[in-house]
Amino acid sequence: MYTRGLKGVVAVETRISSVDGENGVLRYRGKTIEEVVHGGTFESVAAFLWGVEKEDVEFSLREGRQLGTARIDFLRQVPREVSLMDQVRTVMSTLGTPTFLQKSLAEQAMLLTGAIPVITAAAYRMTKGRAPVAPDPELPYVANYLYMITGKKPTETSAKALETYLITTMEHGMNASTFAARVTVSSESDLPSGLVSALGTMKGPLHGGAPSGVLALLDEIQEVGSVEAVIQKKLETGERIMGFGHRVYKTEDPRSLVLRYACERLGAEEAWLALAVKAEAEIIRLLDQYKPGRRLYTNVEYYAAAIMKSIDMSPELFTPTFSVARTVGWTAHMVEQLKENMIFRPESVYIED
Ligand code: ACO
Repeated sequence: MYTRGLKGVVAVETRISSVDGENGVLRYRGKTIEEVVHGGTFESVAAFLWGVEKEDVEFSLREGRQLGTARIDFLRQVPREVSLMDQVRTVMSTLGTPTFLQKSLAEQAMLLTGAIPVITAAAYRMTKGRAPVAPDPELPYVANYLYMITGKKPTETSAKALETYLITTMEHGMNASTFAARVTVSSESDLPSGLVSALGTMKGPLHGGAPSGVLALLDEIQEVGSVEAVIQKKLETGERIMGFGHRVYKTEDPRSLVLRYACERLGAEEAWLALAVKAEAEIIRLLDQYKPGRRLYTNVEYYAAAIMKSIDMSPELFTPTFSVARTVGWTAHMVEQLKENMIFRPESVYIED
């Protein structure tokens, strides 16, 4: 039977996460995303998803940050007009050395996750003509990422806001990039190659497209000074409202709820966040009026944009930052795939011209 885009086809059994689109529930290893975020750190949630000890994660993430000057020099050779996602993917191709591949799969997963923010931040700074900033061994994972991007130690509020975003986007079932990673290692290729496939898939606008459309929408609302005027005009001309609606979630995207609470808790003093919260209710009301029965709510991109804006993250870094988070899910899936591996080899129907 031919199923276009594999829609509805179950190709994998997983213990890592479950996504219930009808009821709006995302679970990591049986725990709801709300439970996971509460009191969780990047390191502790990654440890939970990988099924390893938090202390081992902290140690190996620090190890993974030691990228070495050769790779930074290699990055310097990449033409500056190459996009950040392409730069990160290119350097990722160099990580699968024979010494690296002798390590256990769990350790490889942690080392790769330690390396990706270093590559991303160095590529970003060099694109801007600035020297890379070496990681600070004293800082935890998320604060370190911000430090390597800006060269300044972030406030606790900024680091916590980004950490919440990274935790909520670490893992999301059999999405296109996770599937790509699993397909790659199913040939008994290695984890860095799987990450290269995942990064190449993530960069497409149908998947990891940055929530920059939401930024533009909220900027427009701020400029015009009326949510209603902006949204009505868009809906009357058939335009889609960025950050609303989802293919799987037919109720509120649980990640969006978590990120909204994070925005309210962590950045309520920021005028822009207050605008996002106020605009959301108004937009949902208008969507219900213009598109009754479609059940259109905010998706993860709406409050991701608000969080990114509140911490001054450049829009160029949105998709690479999403990839930093998702490296945990990608590697967890690849390790799971290799435990009970069977090569993916679907069939095609030949159509005669
Ligand atoms: N604004 C206005 N109307 C919308 C929106 C929206 N954001 N989303 C869906 N609709 C309407 C459609 O116009 C359609 O109306 P109709 O019945 O009158 O034709 C109806 O709702 C159903 O639309 P579909 O495209 O069939 O819904 P689907 O669930 O397949 O679409 C999608 C999901 C693509 C995300 C859509 O909601 C959308 O385009 N949203 C805006 C872009 C966006 O925020 N993307 C990020 C998604 S999150 C992520 O990928 C990580």
